[in-house]
Amino acid sequence: MDHSLIESLKRQAAEQAAALVRSGMKLGLGTGSTAAHFVDCIGEKARAGLDVICVPTSERTRIQAEGWNLQLSTLDETPELDLTVDGADEFDSALRLIKGGGGALLREKIVAAASKRMVVITDASKEVERLGRYKLPVEVDRFGLNATRRHIEEAARACGCQGPVVQRKVDDETEFMTDGGHPIFDCDFRVIPDPEGLARALNAIPGVVEHGLFIGMASAVIIADKNGIRVVGQLES
Ligand code: A5P
Repeated sequence: MDHSLIESLKRQAAEQAAALVRSGMKLGLGTGSTAAHFVDCIGEKARAGLDVICVPTSERTRIQAEGWNLQLSTLDETPELDLTVDGADEFDSALRLIKGGGGALLREKIVAAASKRMVVITDASKEVERLGRYKLPVEVDRFGLNATRRHIEEAARACGCQGPVVQRKVDDETEFMTDGGHPIFDCDFRVIPDPEGLARALNAIPGVVEHGLFIGMASAVIIADKNGIRVVGQLES
């Protein structure tokens, strides 16, 4: 599929999600190329009079939202949100997600958890039968990096996952760092037979800050493909 078609599909999914937004709502703004379309939709609606308060999930999204003069807040000031709209790297029919390809998984998960509803917007290429095709990002503390990597590998094997666990780099010499100042391991498992079990096992490792498995968080996924829009889950509460 060519790039402009994919961008137009992402925009269609974003417009569908933006139709859920009403004045007075407190919104979580996701991160990534699909979520960026949603921020643009909300920016355009705000110029036309929509009155919303927004909490961004990354510095990138904050800068984009500021460009639209959206009213921004933090979870310190606004700890409960009505709706978060975000993209995903992968999703399955049970609305389980892999997120964090852009490195924003920690803030994305905190913001989604503070929201009454999380709606995911995506094109159809992200749909999988079994999670794991996309490398699972695991954000870790810099202290004890290699010990934590070994724990991740052991936990993964115990959950039936095989494959390399590789630190994300910007280039040969530069570690990738999240907005929170943490490195990321990308886990190339191909298939995750037990996402819930793996999520629990990763959560139990002291050096793991957060992982990119979002389970039981999304209430709906809006999928745009060339035949139109499809929704899995419940859009309205
Ligand atoms: C950011 O850390 C990610 O979780 C994104 O939400 C995810 O990578 C989807 O990004 P795209 O919409 O750019 O594919």
